[in-house]
Amino acid sequence: MCGIIGYSGHRPAVEVLMDGLKRLEYRGYDSAGVAMVENGHLEMVKRQGELEVLRRALPRFEGRTGVGHTRWATCGRPSDRNAHPFISCDGKLAVVHNGIIENYATLRGELESRGHRFTSDTDTEVLVHLLEEHYRGDLRQALADTVRGIEGTYAIAAIHEKGEEIAAARKENPLVIGLGVKENFLASDVTALLSYTNKVLYVMDGETVSLTPDKVSLFNAEGTMVGREPSLVTWSAEDAQKGGFEHFMLKEIFEGPNAIHNTLLGSLDMIENGEVLPRTDFQAVKLVACGSSFHAAMVGKYAMEDIARVPTTLELASEYRYSLGAREAPLVILITQSGETADTLAAAREARRRGCRTLAVTNVVGSTITREVDEVLYTKAGPEIGVAATKTFLSQLLAMYLLAIRIGYAKGTLSHDSMRGALYSLRQSSNMVQSVLNHIHDIEEASHMIDRAEHCFFIGRNINYPTMLEAALKLKEVSYIHAEGFAAGELKHGPLALLDDSTPVIAVAIKGDHTYEKMLANISEVAARDSPVLGVGCEGDTELTRLCEQVIYIPKVRPLLSPIPVTVALQALAYFVAKRRNCSIDKPKNLAKSVTVE
Ligand code: G6P
Repeated sequence: MCGIIGYSGHRPAVEVLMDGLKRLEYRGYDSAGVAMVENGHLEMVKRQGELEVLRRALPRFEGRTGVGHTRWATCGRPSDRNAHPFISCDGKLAVVHNGIIENYATLRGELESRGHRFTSDTDTEVLVHLLEEHYRGDLRQALADTVRGIEGTYAIAAIHEKGEEIAAARKENPLVIGLGVKENFLASDVTALLSYTNKVLYVMDGETVSLTPDKVSLFNAEGTMVGREPSLVTWSAEDAQKGGFEHFMLKEIFEGPNAIHNTLLGSLDMIENGEVLPRTDFQAVKLVACGSSFHAAMVGKYAMEDIARVPTTLELASEYRYSLGAREAPLVILITQSGETADTLAAAREARRRGCRTLAVTNVVGSTITREVDEVLYTKAGPEIGVAATKTFLSQLLAMYLLAIRIGYAKGTLSHDSMRGALYSLRQSSNMVQSVLNHIHDIEEASHMIDRAEHCFFIGRNINYPTMLEAALKLKEVSYIHAEGFAAGELKHGPLALLDDSTPVIAVAIKGDHTYEKMLANISEVAARDSPVLGVGCEGDTELTRLCEQVIYIPKVRPLLSPIPVTVALQALAYFVAKRRNCSIDKPKNLAKSVTVE
């Protein structure tokens, strides 16, 4: 995710900015830049690539006030011109931004008609042009006026050539101020500040900030100044990168609601207006992927068939590339978090060779897959550091539902109202995930049932069959317990032979689903073989409490969307089991985040 740094004080700003950007590198980036006030005018340098590329391009700057940014592309591919900062037409203002400006297309059209010239493809650039229009000598006030017209999420920092002030604003993207003596700092996380100060002020949603070397003032959305006591940070720099969480995996599980939110923000309009898949004259769809992404594809098959009523087939990328293509679908959707998985790339080429239209779902703008396909739908989960996919998987589920809704609406299976209703339900799913996270201690408690097991089964039916395959994969990846996922109806065709009191079974049964009763019967079968059963079901389901040794509850949910909260609950379960077993959670042995070999 992008990183922001700002400095105003007595040191050469460029040194503080470059040091801060270095410490934000772990968030992932593809380009970086700085802007500073240099003898009464603004200077800016920005480059695609590593910070070293930027460093080599920097002249000797003397300025004491500046802002810097590492960009992780979401709107506009990685390039020098799309890197931040952005400068106003009069050259007097510079802006850096994290987040997504949802209404940027409309704003850009309006600004262009008023004579503003744009130099990039980003959503961010509208901010600096709006700021220029609002600026009457008070930078913070101009920023407050600017954000009033913005829909979306942001952390913004801005400077003007005339002074030592940095103005900032925040909504749903982190922003923290570091307090020094005759110098003050600003960053998107405390990691960037810890070598200078541990005295910080957290900026809250809706607030704007005015920061100079001697003073920091915070204002609420109504423009009233707010007081806040500084906090003292006791974390090390490494702890700070993890935002106070013990592991990246847990941090990234907690970023789930945001991943959902951002994936939806970036795509809702595209889905409604038909910018994704403008042509839907195909009769069938094939989904192709590897690893966790394949499990997202499996959920996608159920969603596609349920919502859009389009026949959908699935293939592992490593199989597809060598298959004969006898039952080829005209649209092939490739799902890959990294956009670099060798088998998925080869599958994309093969699909095109066979004359299919191709669409990639990926989390990385500018990744190789985006150059191999006809169309791209981006998930916007932000970079994931833990090897085990968590928030990126969640955002892939969202993408699957979005595509199903798009196809269903375009083909007339969904009316306009049902399409809006379906999108509304998807929006609510981030609240469901948040509610699971609010009760995470119950999941930690339930992890006792599993942490000593050698084998563990995960069972589910219908759309939660793939959810359980993914849950089993997650557990084996991070805890090294042998875990298998099964369609619950298949138990009696073999796996039952393996059950005894030392093999816990995790079973998901969603009240309201047409397979719910069948799942209860399967749970009874398992319990009759003495296996301890950990149930996963909806709040208030007393039947499940009666049959299972313990139950993890998720909020009441439409069965079709239940993989979203169930997934998060079981990611957390895998995490806590691995933690109890002292495993190397973020870097499991023998595994890689991106598999670029066959
Ligand atoms: C590796 C990762 C998995 C991922 C799979 C596919 O095995 O460890 O987490 O699901 O690759 O990666 P992709 O980037 O194509 O989604």
